[in-house]
Amino acid sequence: MHILITGGTGLIGRRICKALLAEGHQLTVLSRHPETVAAKCGNGVRAITTLDEWLPEQMVDAIINLAGEPIADVHWTTARKQVLWDSRVTLTARLVQRIVAAEHKPAVLLSGSAVGYYGNQGNLELDESAGTGDDFAAHLCKTWEDVALSAESQGVRVCLLRTGLILSKDGGLLGRMLLPFKLGLGARMGDGKQWMSWIHIDDYVSTILRLLHEQDMRGPFNMTAPNPVTNAEFTRSLARALHRPALFVAPGFILRAAMGERASLLLEGQRVLPKKIEASGGSFAFKRLESALQDILS
Ligand SMILES: NC(=O)c1ccc[n+]([C@@H]2O[C@H](COP(=O)([O-])OP(=O)(O)OC[C@H]3O[C@@H](n4cnc5c(N)ncnc54)[C@H](OP(=O)(O)O)[C@@H]3O)[C@@H](O)[C@H]2O)c1
Repeated sequence: MHILITGGTGLIGRRICKALLAEGHQLTVLSRHPETVAAKCGNGVRAITTLDEWLPEQMVDAIINLAGEPIADVHWTTARKQVLWDSRVTLTARLVQRIVAAEHKPAVLLSGSAVGYYGNQGNLELDESAGTGDDFAAHLCKTWEDVALSAESQGVRVCLLRTGLILSKDGGLLGRMLLPFKLGLGARMGDGKQWMSWIHIDDYVSTILRLLHEQDMRGPFNMTAPNPVTNAEFTRSLARALHRPALFVAPGFILRAAMGERASLLLEGQRVLPKKIEASGGSFAFKRLESALQDILS
């Protein structure tokens, strides 16, 4: 297959490119830094810098849409929110416009979203039928999904990737937590009762491959392992896996003062279950946080 990937140079995208190349697919990656694509995504991967380089007569069989400016890195000013929005919603809208223009429509679009779609629903267990939240992250995910879903009118099968916290040794939130935890400075966030829905990157990539190939899978998918944990449990498990204490607490009011609205990413959470993946026969190599951390940190 010829597969177009946005966000192919990112933490998730790089691993997906590797898996797709191993399956023998031809890849095109949209990147603002085309000179980095071969090194990050693999030799032979074509780089494009704008979707206009996808000409209407060129055949693209599948699209994986993961692009998005990092959500946790910078203060959520009005301008930053617009950047987060444009890099997801506006880019996805352009992608759908290109699909409309294409002479041969791709069979499938796998498009990014996040468990933030659900907002903060406390201890409630959330499968794919649960409603959306009313904060900024939830609005962003809902609109991102709605725009991607509009490709269905072109006969494209659309899968929405409601992604949880990716566990990988190559970066992401876990990558950032490692140094303080290794130094014995690991800390629970606020009261630690907020849920963290995580997934090992290997399980994420194998689920992507299933969604790509299995033609009866469509709509939203909770891309999370079946056993989410609270922040307090996550903190204990990570400290135990590193044989270090985690005695500290990062008080919620300090995080809110320092990070503003963005602190909701740390102090609120979602208890998400991968109901559709499991019901469709999907399995997880890493169902429990302890085994996922052991694998990643070994
Ligand atoms: N990692 C997680 O735990 C997690 C959890 C939930 C949801 N997600 C979502 O999954 C997606 C991929 O995550 P990731 O961790 O792989 O992200 P990442 O490592 O930060 O990579 C982001 C990718 O998006 C591209 N990108 C960023 N800003 C862009 C812009 N303004 N225009 C076009 N492309 C842009 C980058 O490509 P270039 O720099 O090459 O242009 C990069 O490849 C993101 O949308 C993220 O929100 C991730």
